[in-house]
Amino acid sequence: MSGVRLAATLVGILAAGACAYGGQASPGPAGPPIAPSGGVATPAPGAAIRHFDLTAAPLALQLGPGVKALAWAYNGQVPGPTIRVAQGDLVVVTLHNRLPEGTSIHWHGLAVPNGEDGVAGVTQDAIPPGESATYSFVATATGTYWYHSHQDSAAQVGRGLYGPLIVDPPGAAPAGVADRTLIYDEWPLGLLGSRAPKAGDPLLITYTTYSVNGRTGAAIAPVTWQPGQTVRLRLVDAGNLVHFLHLDGIPYRVVAFDGHSVTGGPLVTDVLAIGPGERIDVEFEGSARSSWLRMLDSMPPAEQAGVALQPIGSAPPVGGSPSPVHDAVLDPFTYTATAAGPDAVPSALPPTRSYTVALTSATMPGMPGMPASPDGVAYQMNGAVFPETGALDVRTGDIVWLTFVNQSRADHPIHLHGHLLTLVARSGSPAVGVIVKDTVVVHPGASVTVAFRADNPGWWMLHCHELYHAAGGMMMLLRYLDVPRLANLGGPYHSQPD
Ligand code: C2O
Ligand code: CU
Repeated sequence: MSGVRLAATLVGILAAGACAYGGQASPGPAGPPIAPSGGVATPAPGAAIRHFDLTAAPLALQLGPGVKALAWAYNGQVPGPTIRVAQGDLVVVTLHNRLPEGTSIHWHGLAVPNGEDGVAGVTQDAIPPGESATYSFVATATGTYWYHSHQDSAAQVGRGLYGPLIVDPPGAAPAGVADRTLIYDEWPLGLLGSRAPKAGDPLLITYTTYSVNGRTGAAIAPVTWQPGQTVRLRLVDAGNLVHFLHLDGIPYRVVAFDGHSVTGGPLVTDVLAIGPGERIDVEFEGSARSSWLRMLDSMPPAEQAGVALQPIGSAPPVGGSPSPVHDAVLDPFTYTATAAGPDAVPSALPPTRSYTVALTSATMPGMPGMPASPDGVAYQMNGAVFPETGALDVRTGDIVWLTFVNQSRADHPIHLHGHLLTLVARSGSPAVGVIVKDTVVVHPGASVTVAFRADNPGWWMLHCHELYHAAGGMMMLLRYLDVPRLANLGGPYHSQPD
């Protein structure tokens, strides 16, 4: 579909009334909340059933000596407990809400049935305070994923409601691999005091402390290995900023982008850029030499986000300022690796539908319906803010190409739920490798095209994973025609994905 047709479609949607997209609170008495639905009861043949309990509650989080955050956490820890299962396992997670507000959980990057996707206001109602809900899905794909709240997610993920979700291939873990997960996050000044500011306060986007696995500075645990082991680092960005990471003096290979294994990637020493929602798995040979995984961002808190890389039995690496780095930034569009398995949409397969989504921003004080964004900016898709952004329509079996055109001055890490995105091209240059992702950073001025198979019916979020951009309007829906929407925004449980 051309941009012109798309614009006409959106006008039609708007004329039909925003109510069709659930913008309004439903009147009348509150029935029981709409729960996660469509879950499955059986694992793949030969696989296990794995039960997990997560309790979401406030927590005074000690990020480091003298640095405490007003966190919200799963099971009293940030990140939440690791959910680690084997491919094919049935994952059953009961979430107990001990927060003062409604909440939900989304399984970022895993294609689960629509009703299990955990998006308040789209696939379920927010789970009210004091209540519990159970999710169940089969872990169909291997790799590094993460889970996080999808009710008012800028605020809730920002406070720490996230954790790692790792799906191993069936069978025993490979011997000789030291497997470590590092989750990066930023903490705003507004959560480091004794009382959190109200929604919309700029102190909530004034990041003064960066954390790795919920700790900062010297409190960050080193990555250790037995010399001779291969070290696999699963890097996750649970925050709202793109970070630049560098393995000092250690050549590495990327073995997965957003959980999806790649083979054939070259050994590089490049700086790794990781954006909100993204995961990058890298492997290197664990030598007998200590080193640093540094964060090279220009902002001062980056100096507190270095991770010591330390063979067991060796002294910690020496501190001091990083040696100047002249390496290139690793780029998934130019990295020559090939996605393992049949997940990629072959480049020869022509799309049956194409959409273009313009990413813009505007300061529009007082615009009716403009969501509260602490920087006072509306973040738009095709000129509108959610829920007026409407939906992109597909049918099961479609091969869909999406092109995002970033006409703003900020990076936008765009994430689609429920589907796997194959990188097609950026600003006219085809992707060099065959890379499958679920979150793609679109830089200012760039246009990025991705392809996916419409093979998971439902209504799915498509949004920026800088969650304050999402809260500021940069969200829309992907809608399978003739498939009902499971839940609506607002209502007695105040459901609101962001
Ligand atoms: Cu990681 Cu819509 O989410
Ligand atoms: Cu954005």
